[in-house]
Amino acid sequence: MDDVGVGPWRGAWPDDPRYDPALLREGDRRNVVDQYRYWTVEAIRAELGSRKHPFHIAIENWTHDFNIGSVVRTANAFNVAAVHVVGRRRWNRRGAMVTDRYLDVVHHPDAETFVGWASGARREDGGTGISVLGVDNLPGAVPFETFELPRECVLVFGQEGPGLSSEARRVCEAVLSITQFGSTRSINAGAAAAIAMHGWVRRHAVPGTAPGNPA
Ligand SMILES: C[S@@+](CC[C@H](N)C(=O)[O-])C[C@H]1O[C@@H](n2cnc3c(N)ncnc32)[C@H](O)[C@@H]1O
Repeated sequence: MDDVGVGPWRGAWPDDPRYDPALLREGDRRNVVDQYRYWTVEAIRAELGSRKHPFHIAIENWTHDFNIGSVVRTANAFNVAAVHVVGRRRWNRRGAMVTDRYLDVVHHPDAETFVGWASGARREDGGTGISVLGVDNLPGAVPFETFELPRECVLVFGQEGPGLSSEARRVCEAVLSITQFGSTRSINAGAAAAIAMHGWVRRHAVPGTAPGNPA
């Protein structure tokens, strides 16, 4: 396979503060779309932040769930507003493939603190408070596929094994279940989060407006 990325910059260096002198000198082998080649992390964060989508992802972290890294990576791919980790602060970053540098990952020690943040979150209309929606196939959950997903919301995921905690369920306005057709009780939390994020994208995002997609 060809090397990912680009080698040292050829010719006169660009006069633009978004470029990182170390990357210009040594080349840029990071896993970023071509628009951001040679850019500093801060410049990439700022550009993504200027057009982030107005929905958030939250995932519980009571037992060092290995899915959090993959959730963060997918959240970066869909440019969600932020990922919220509820429970333990530490999580295994390996699956994130360094994407956690490019978006906000916010820690909340418990469900109460998390819902306090959600009720004070600023909305696009200038008001405060966004919907907190659980995603789990618990009894009483409604089908994700037919639920009218709001543009501004936070989608909350549980962990492998226990699923959404009772504290998290208590703070959710509704719990949405991704319909399954096979024999397994559930799908992997990282897979469920990817499906749900793409559900939001299908409903609210405009295809073809972001860099890094095939022309
Ligand atoms: C592996 S599941 C564990 C709990 C699951 N309720 C069970 O009974 O096996 C871990 C997390 O993945 C997500 N998940 C898995 N399957 C799902 C589905 N069909 N619909 C919605 N969320 C799902 C939920 O966020 C859940 O908390």
